[in-house]
Amino acid sequence: MRQLIAGNWKMNGLSGDAAAIAGPLRPGSDGLACDLLVCPPFTQIVTVANILVGSAVAVGGQDCHVNEKGAHTGDISAAMLRDAGASWVILGHSERRADHGETDALIQAKTRAAVAASLTPIVCVGETEAQRVAGQQNTVVGGQLTGSLPPGFAGVVAYEPVWAIGTGKTATEADVAAMHLFIRETLVRQLGDAGNSVRILYGGSVRPANAASLLSVPHVGGALVGGASLKAEEFLGIAKAAKA
Ligand code: PGA
Repeated sequence: MRQLIAGNWKMNGLSGDAAAIAGPLRPGSDGLACDLLVCPPFTQIVTVANILVGSAVAVGGQDCHVNEKGAHTGDISAAMLRDAGASWVILGHSERRADHGETDALIQAKTRAAVAASLTPIVCVGETEAQRVAGQQNTVVGGQLTGSLPPGFAGVVAYEPVWAIGTGKTATEADVAAMHLFIRETLVRQLGDAGNSVRILYGGSVRPANAASLLSVPHVGGALVGGASLKAEEFLGIAKAAKA
């Protein structure tokens, strides 16, 4: 299974930035051993999709609504993302769980909506620092998986410990190994054999300097990259560390 390196621009990127960040990925993605994905803010999806059209780099959104269309001011549907040039969507990121009170049930409904619109979902899970200190990480992540993934799920899961996001702290290789094994076992229990084919990304302060060691941990199927995805050189540096 090829590893997936996915960039989450979050709420960053004006029209002047899109070409600088996404442009170098076209030549830079040549000959990589991994799959590459960028998820700009909604307003830059069309621009970035046009920059990357015909390349090996895919484009995704960072959220979608559960409905296809209708009276939902300020929201964006999965069909709209698809129409703008996206083929992927990040769902249930911890920042959306925290800032918008997204529940597992809502994330599961969004996941169904994404699949119905032919988008591949990346469903995010991860514990807070307090939960890890209390030794509750498996209970929390297990609950998020059970609650957020619909039956027959065939997308990607991203494990992002909340305390490692944007902090410069990364989980130790041993912690990543233990959690990714736990997620794999949970997926197989939930989805049967298909749970073995789900890529499980690690996210949280991934940088070129720590990418090779994190990406070599068993059951790590790639990385979800925030800050370092805003500089093409750093993002490609992480992609070069990925294994076939
Ligand atoms: P970070 O963000 O790489 O800036 O820690 C990761 C994420 O939130 O997806």
